[in-house]
Amino acid sequence: MTESDPPFPDEAPESSPVEPHAPMSVPEQDPGKRPARRVRYAGTHPRKFHEKYKELARDRYAADVEKILKSGKTPAGTHRPIMVNEILQVLAPQAGERGIDCTLGYGGHAQKLLRAIQPDGCLLGIDADPIELPKTDARLRSAGFPAETLIVQRTNFAALPGLIPALLPGGADFLLADLGLSSMQIDDPARGFTFKVDAPLDMRMNPARGSSAAEFLAKIDQRGLAQLLVDAADEPWAEPLASGLIAAQESSVIVTTGQLAEAVRKVLAKIGSFDEEDVTSTIRRVFQALRIAVNDEFSTLDILLKSIPQCVKPSGRIAILTFHSGEDRRVKKAFQAGLASGVYREISSEVIRATPQERHDNPRSIPAKLRWAIRSSS
Ligand SMILES: C[S@@+](CC[C@H](N)C(=O)[O-])C[C@H]1O[C@@H](n2cnc3c(N)ncnc32)[C@H](O)[C@@H]1O
Repeated sequence: MTESDPPFPDEAPESSPVEPHAPMSVPEQDPGKRPARRVRYAGTHPRKFHEKYKELARDRYAADVEKILKSGKTPAGTHRPIMVNEILQVLAPQAGERGIDCTLGYGGHAQKLLRAIQPDGCLLGIDADPIELPKTDARLRSAGFPAETLIVQRTNFAALPGLIPALLPGGADFLLADLGLSSMQIDDPARGFTFKVDAPLDMRMNPARGSSAAEFLAKIDQRGLAQLLVDAADEPWAEPLASGLIAAQESSVIVTTGQLAEAVRKVLAKIGSFDEEDVTSTIRRVFQALRIAVNDEFSTLDILLKSIPQCVKPSGRIAILTFHSGEDRRVKKAFQAGLASGVYREISSEVIRATPQERHDNPRSIPAKLRWAIRSSS
């Protein structure tokens, strides 16, 4: 696995190697030694991420993991790839082809694509996350994909065009981007993406770069925050939330996920009476907007959309999976503009959604929207 980063004019250079992440408490079995003690938890079921040793050790507890999957949940430390069949149909990977997975995540889509392009095919898999990527790299290697079949690069996908000449000269036959976060990132409280557990308000896909969500929140003004809540989350209560959150931030600094969720609750309580579902949805939207800002997700997506035609060959296939309207609007506009200018010869006329069965089996597929494009033949 190699590392690089995009030449963003306003980005600080890569800092020293990424700090090791909080260790996973899965007891390792070392032959000859007594097994380590399991993590203890209060009550009958583990509630905290690090207590879920059965889910975190998938191979040893396959039956338990199967039960979790059947219940519609995603086992801790894993990610269920979304709309796999639809993506395979759109990308139509063939033996010997070269592809790009811009968002490797857990490697779920990558594994399917890698199998479809054998023999002699090669996939370039990239991801910005220095914590999950080494695990995915190791997992895919042990699933039988050596260096000549799978190139793994830790970088932001905005840097993709710079990688192509050296890694995939001539470009790719297909490209996939499955945007947003993986379940491993969402479910790990130490990353600060979830409001279900109180933890430092971080939200960076790469915690070694840029500002945390707490630092971002301390700097943004009311107008900027209101605009962000509209642009990145279509937030109907953007104005009062921005004013209430900035006031809360000024009286007592918001540095944890719990404090932010509580501050949103207090603002809503002043606006009127909301049921718990509405409150939770509002908190989720505020977290989404902050995460998008902290990771500069719209700018990097715009850069990717602009550079895709340079990265795929003539007649190359492109599939992009989005999870909210701000992303989908960008993909739709870029594809339409590409069709109008002749860069693309065909694009999806409608979004493709997960089947009712998949939505039932994996609720995280509910907001997913798939769009595709095919580069023109010259
Ligand atoms: C939804 S997950 C992908 C899951 C993957 N398709 C799978 O089957 O396991 C999205 C991944 O994209 C990564 N990501 C998001 N934005 C990125 C960016 N701008 N550059 C590189 N990786 C990014 C995240 O770190 C996360 O691992």
